[in-house]
This record gives sequence, structure tokens and C-alpha cells, in this order.
Amino acid sequence: MSKTIIAKAHTNIALVKYWGKKDAQLMLPQNGSISLTLDHFYTKTSVTFDASLNEDQVDFNGQHLTPKQATRISHFLDLVRTKSGETARASVKTSNHVPTSAGLASSASGFAALAAAGSRAAGLDLSLTDLSRLARRGSGSATRSIFGGFVEWHAGHDDISSYAEPIQDPVDWDIQMIAVVLQASKKPISSTAGMQRVVDTSPYYPAWVKTANADLVAMRTAIANHDLTSVGQIAETNAMRMHALNLSAQPAFNYFTADTLTAINAVQDLRAHGINCYYTLDAGPNVKIICASADTAAITGALSQHFAADQLIVAQPGPGISISEA
Ligand code: DP6
Repeated sequence: MSKTIIAKAHTNIALVKYWGKKDAQLMLPQNGSISLTLDHFYTKTSVTFDASLNEDQVDFNGQHLTPKQATRISHFLDLVRTKSGETARASVKTSNHVPTSAGLASSASGFAALAAAGSRAAGLDLSLTDLSRLARRGSGSATRSIFGGFVEWHAGHDDISSYAEPIQDPVDWDIQMIAVVLQASKKPISSTAGMQRVVDTSPYYPAWVKTANADLVAMRTAIANHDLTSVGQIAETNAMRMHALNLSAQPAFNYFTADTLTAINAVQDLRAHGINCYYTLDAGPNVKIICASADTAAITGALSQHFAADQLIVAQPGPGISISEA
């Protein structure tokens, strides 16, 4: 049996989004992206390779997954086995510290934690950059969850050149996100399938890549200047352009619910009343509000007219991965 290695990775929310691959096998994105890692939401995963197992055993929040449910994890472990020469199957225990059914970017923290714990348990001692490359093969957004604070994923053109690096960590100024946790009304299309459909069918896709690249340049400057207004404006516009791609796909799809629009309207209303706050959304109904901590009470106060207190979660910039031996 190998050592049992435990890794903890935090989720991240993209401010300039990844939405489309140019190579699905290597998981190379069409454009670079920039995110903020959050302290509040994380995944903790332990991995042990065990020659007595016939197949990978995966427990997710205390529930045993069937081999079919564990396919994506097993495929990822195959990659770790190929890289390391480890031949045994693995026991994987993972717990997701995100509100139930919130779907808050759990593949990002999930594959970052699995990459770190799995590679170390298989005897590899990878640099953080190599861990970022490895996590990318599990889920694109996981590339960034290796690091804390503001992180940029360089799109690259091959396995070596596509990786993330921190651009500001720790974050020594006042910026945070308030997650508005909403119930999904129907089963949404997965991010993997949604972004592929958009690349294949949206006539606006080339314009997205062009504007996303410009957003990257502007976002780097806004972060360096500790400029919350610019970070928020760029992130909000970038997010809505991503969702406009979904509306322009064939067939069209979207992740919004009525509550999503209620939260967006509330943010716009707060802004009209002088509160400096902005929203971003990913492949689900939840709205993330970018703001300073000084405005937390005003924002949660206004949103509490529409949502319960436990639907509003205040998150600060969070750390990169940590790895330990059991
Ligand atoms: C909207 O990383 O979940 O959150 O690489 O296919 O696993 P796969 O997709 P995933 O997509 C995340 C998309 C996003 C934007 C982002 O995080 O950059």
C-alpha cells in the first residue's frame, strides 16, 4: 500500500472566463483566464494506492460512487499511473465543503486536490507549476485552484505551455465575493458540453476570444492597481459575454433562473444607489457579487429582501493547495 496523502484545494471564480477548448484531449483553452481563489469553499481529498484493490474506490462526501460515476476520476488516476509507473488501483475519499447542491465550481477544487494527493501518493514530487498542468487534465478550471489569490491560466499551445501562476497572493487589499446560492430549476448542460457547443455553433465565438484577450490585459492592470471598480466592470462584462455565447449557440441554452435575474437586478439597483458592487456567473444559477468588505452589510441587507440568510455566503481571497501525509 502507498502512503495516504491528503490535499486541500480551494475553489476559484473566474473574473476573465475560460469557455471553450482548442484541444479537448490536452484540455487546452481557447483563451487565457484570470480568477480569484476563495477561502470559504474547498475540497479535501485523500488518496492511497492499494495493490489489493481490483478497481478504484471513490467515496464522495461519504457516499460510495459506482465505477460509472467515478469514470472521470479513474481516467484522471490513469494519467497519474502513467506518469508515475504506479500500477495499483486507488482508494479516494473526498469531501466537498461547499453548500449542498450549490455547484460552486467543485470540479476546480476537486481536480486540484486530486492532482496533488494522487501524484504525491504515487511517489511523484511535482512542482506547483507541474501540479497545475496535471490538474488541467482533470478540469480546466482546476488548473487555477493550485494557487491562492489572483491567478492567471496561460492558454498555451501544448501541455508544457498551458499552466497557471499566481499574479497576486496574498491579496493585500479589500476585495471579496458574496455568493448568492440559488437552486437550479432544471438539469443544466455541463460546462464541458456547453462550452463545446458554443465553440462549434456560436457565430460570435471569434469575437469572444478577441475580447477575452483584451480583458486579460485590462484585468492584470486593474488587479495591480487594486482597482475594485475596474476589476468588477471587466468581470461583469466578460461574464455576460460568456452567457451571450450560450444564448447564441445552436441549440441555445442558458444557466439563468428567475432568482438569478432577481440577484442581478439587485446588484444593479445597489450600484444605482452608490454601492460599488458587480456580479459574475458561471455554469449554474449562482451569482457571485464582487465588492469591498465595507459594503457587506448594505449588500446582504438588500439581498435579504429576496433570499434567506443562508443563501448569502461572504467569501474572502483564499490560499493555494496544502498537502499532508495521513
Ligand atoms: C464557467 O473547468 O468546469 O466556470 O474543463 O470541461 O471541466 P471542463 O470545464 P470547467 O469549466 C469552467 C467554466 C467556467 C469559467 C471558468 O472557471 O473559467
